[in-house]
Amino acid sequence: MQFTQRTHTCGALRAANTGETVTLNGWVDGRRDLGGMIFIDLRDRYGLTQVVFAPQHNTAVHKQAHELRAEYVLSITGTVQPRPEGMANADMPTGEIEVIVDSFEILNRSDIPPFTIEDDVDAFEDLRLRYRYLDLRRPVLQKHLLLRSKVYQVVHRYFDEHDFIEIETPVLMKSTPEGARDFLVPSRIHAGKFYALPQSPQTYKQLLMVAGFDRYVQIVKCFRDEDFRADRQPEFTQIDLEMSFIRAEDIYRLIEGLMQRMLKETIGVDLALPLPVLDYYEALERYGSDKPDLRFGMELVTLNHVVRGAEFKVFSDALEAGGIVSGISVKGRAEEFSRRKLDELTERAKDLGMGGLVWMKAAGGGLTSPVAKFLTDDMIAGIRESMQTEDGDLILIVADARRKLALEALGTLRVELGKELDLVDRTAHRLLWVVDFPLFQWDDETQRFYAEHHPFTGPKPEDVPLLDSDPGAARADCYDLVWNGSEVGSGSIRIHDSALQAKIFSILGLPEAEISEKFGFLIDAFRFGAPPHGGCALGLDRIVTLLAGISSIREVIAFPKTNKALSLMDGSPSTVSPDQLGELHIDLRKTTP
Ligand code: AMO
Ligand code: AMP
Repeated sequence: MQFTQRTHTCGALRAANTGETVTLNGWVDGRRDLGGMIFIDLRDRYGLTQVVFAPQHNTAVHKQAHELRAEYVLSITGTVQPRPEGMANADMPTGEIEVIVDSFEILNRSDIPPFTIEDDVDAFEDLRLRYRYLDLRRPVLQKHLLLRSKVYQVVHRYFDEHDFIEIETPVLMKSTPEGARDFLVPSRIHAGKFYALPQSPQTYKQLLMVAGFDRYVQIVKCFRDEDFRADRQPEFTQIDLEMSFIRAEDIYRLIEGLMQRMLKETIGVDLALPLPVLDYYEALERYGSDKPDLRFGMELVTLNHVVRGAEFKVFSDALEAGGIVSGISVKGRAEEFSRRKLDELTERAKDLGMGGLVWMKAAGGGLTSPVAKFLTDDMIAGIRESMQTEDGDLILIVADARRKLALEALGTLRVELGKELDLVDRTAHRLLWVVDFPLFQWDDETQRFYAEHHPFTGPKPEDVPLLDSDPGAARADCYDLVWNGSEVGSGSIRIHDSALQAKIFSILGLPEAEISEKFGFLIDAFRFGAPPHGGCALGLDRIVTLLAGISSIREVIAFPKTNKALSLMDGSPSTVSPDQLGELHIDLRKTTP
């Protein structure tokens, strides 16, 4: 069917267009009948334009306009005129003008939408996800997807300028271990065999280095069957890259340049370089986290040296067991913490695995606390000095034999209090590198080591001897990119030596047969002149969320899954026909619903 095509988009017209005859195509955003006239905001992805059906201008057109409803699709032709005196809308780019309609066509009608299409919609997210194509008409979501598209463009341009080659890697592949569960795809041709969807292209990109491509990049979908959190999706997008003949510092400079460009070109923010670098142990000790939020202070202070010898059992037990006593202080706000509030904080600390929480209020040059009587004057003075305390501060202290757990509990309290007390500068963008994580993590339950990053990550060269003497103490040559307390990227310098790779697998306790079954192809490849190489992957969805200044990753993905991994719009996952299962050689076990 023919229709009159637009001369302008709904975001284009300004006072300078006054007097022009124009045609707009778009959706009815809302209809207002006022003083005998009908006003409609016509919407497309570029904006809104007010169009007016005036009886004195064209009686027939005005009469016909009574039929228009929300979300009808129109083509209108009319004349641009300035809005009457005092009626201009400064919040709208097209707010100076309106279009007086000469004629219009209804290109399509719409059922009554299940929710109003507007930025501050009050519908439940489930309903919005079910009608995602309507949700996506909301300007705010369109803005987020536009931002996402800009990010793709920056990435493509930046890496092209830096001599990277974009190469696609398979989606049907052999399982690689990134620590999550695989999504599996049954093979029809090979009964009983499965492909895995990539948790990341990790093995392929390393093989591309062996092949000599030197600089690889790909914006790539990854799939992980893990339990959900607000910042995770079962399928998500990485900016994945790998380079040969480089050191960690080369990756820092490359990624820093990308982040600087991205922040500038998408949201106009200047990022100062180089980014700060914290090693893992320091990050843990100062922020109680391997992804510290640097937008506010309230750093953790280790008090072991100050309270050593205290009569207070909680402290002495922790220290005797080689643990830690660490505190944070809330500057100048002790008054705001009632007994009840302090009890709540103590409960929270218990939820986080601590035995409790010690609080102290600084007053009169000393410290008021239920625990003060167990501490000497020197200890009290020492705590005040270490924590740079002034009267009016609140101090919160945890003590535990399990150093990491205690620091992380306090780190969690720090972040929660920072948000609650509004200490976080929400306009700030604070990025940093956290580096040199332990290579392995010991698991008490299974009595074995796990790779902290992944098993292809190399040890720091100076720590290689530790692989024989004390593997738990060896550090990895790895780095995480952290942005406002969120891990947005992760990478490492890889092992390129097949003997070293085999040794790592054996420390991880993988049986020979399993190693060769799972990774034989990679170890083989390393025997044919693998260059030194390393790389990293950035979480694109998380990056777009941070650029948009929002918290939910679902708001920057066109068709996201819920936190139960469902697609409410098309109803996946869904059952399939017995025929389809038969072809795939699959028998379903009866499960009780
Ligand atoms: P890693 O597993 O740390 O490293 O992933 C890299 C980055 O991807 C993002 N990310 C996610 N985003 C949304 N939903 C998820 N479920 C999700 N999981 C991860 C994070 C993370 O920092 N192959 C290695 C990288 C390398 O060594 O080069 C890897 O995949 O922002
Ligand atoms: P208790 O010895 O359990 O009566 O605890 C005495 C005080 O120490 C209470 O205020 C507890 O909240 C606090 N406390 C107990 N365990 C810890 C801990 N691991 N870290 C900090 N404070 C604790």
